[in-house]
Amino acid sequence: MAKVSIIGAGNVGATAADVIARSGYCHEVVLLDIKPGLAEGKALDIAQTSPLLGFDTQVRGVTNDYKAIADSDVVVITSGRPRSPGMSRDDLVHVNAEIIKSVIEPAVFYAPNAIFVVVTNPLDTMTYYAYKLSRLPSQRVVGMAGVLDTARYRYFLAQELRASVQDIEAMLLGGHGDTMVPLPRYTTIGGIPVVNLLSKDKLDAIIERTKFGGGELTKLLGTSAWYAPGTAVAQMVASILLDQKRILPCSAYLQGQYGLEDIYIGVPVKLGRNGVEEIIQLALNEEEMKLLHASAQAVRSMNAVLKF
Ligand code: NAI
Ligand code: 2OP
Repeated sequence: MAKVSIIGAGNVGATAADVIARSGYCHEVVLLDIKPGLAEGKALDIAQTSPLLGFDTQVRGVTNDYKAIADSDVVVITSGRPRSPGMSRDDLVHVNAEIIKSVIEPAVFYAPNAIFVVVTNPLDTMTYYAYKLSRLPSQRVVGMAGVLDTARYRYFLAQELRASVQDIEAMLLGGHGDTMVPLPRYTTIGGIPVVNLLSKDKLDAIIERTKFGGGELTKLLGTSAWYAPGTAVAQMVASILLDQKRILPCSAYLQGQYGLEDIYIGVPVKLGRNGVEEIIQLALNEEEMKLLHASAQAVRSMNAVLKF
């Protein structure tokens, strides 16, 4: 059995805790937040669903007490401000960098062997920052974004094609932002390439909606989304803890792959018990490579704002 700790018991953190607790493959889920009582309250509420849903996972909430996360197998970092309407992920950089800085040191101290999954925005920059501050091997620090972005993309495709979401496989590269690079050439429905089933106009419209998928929800909700983000975190945690070795789009540290170096950005990775076990290098055409490098440039300019 395994232990997962989630730093930040807000919307995304609590949703991830809820989904992970119900999945039943952990003996304990710890929620930690800086706001007194919040993590304790959400943990208790989730724990009280256990008789109804039939799971035995222990769910515990604490206020800034890092001792509680000792010996975690996975630590998820969801502490940070979400976007308000009209605010880009990048507007968040300074405030959230301070938060990452304050949580990463105690988290690594108490859970030195954990795999760290970063969720805080701007995602690729915060994951890079967490990696640098943690001094952990890059395989053990990974960012969540592509799993969410592909879920949105797959959902939109399923709606358009009146198909089952379960039959849609998709891949996506680049930063978690408007420069993300969905890959229609690597998108299939029941094994059939999507480019054979949808017109270019329809596909382009879906790709555009996916790129701005976070903003669409922020406008509707007044804050950013949480059900799909929290569930996407849980999918990554399952792949790690159950050593599923799933190939998922995640923000990973590149050292020459795709012609990029010293950057965290979304690429397909094999995610298992050791974290990022492999970075999969897809054969990209010229246009896809150009879009990926443009996205990397956007991530780099955000990284440059941070001081190390
Ligand atoms: P939220 O405001 O509901 O929760 C954030 C929580 O972090 C709050 O409970 C707050 O008290 C806590 N917190 C702040 N500073 C802390 C500290 N120093 N130590 C411990 N806890 C602290 O926000 P939400 O919606 O859960 O989003 C969290 C973050 O995740 C945001 O930065 C958001 O932009 C990002 N996000 C990223 C996504 C992705 O795909 N990577 C998707 C959705 C959200
Ligand atoms: C999302 O994509 C805002 O990153 C957040 O929902």
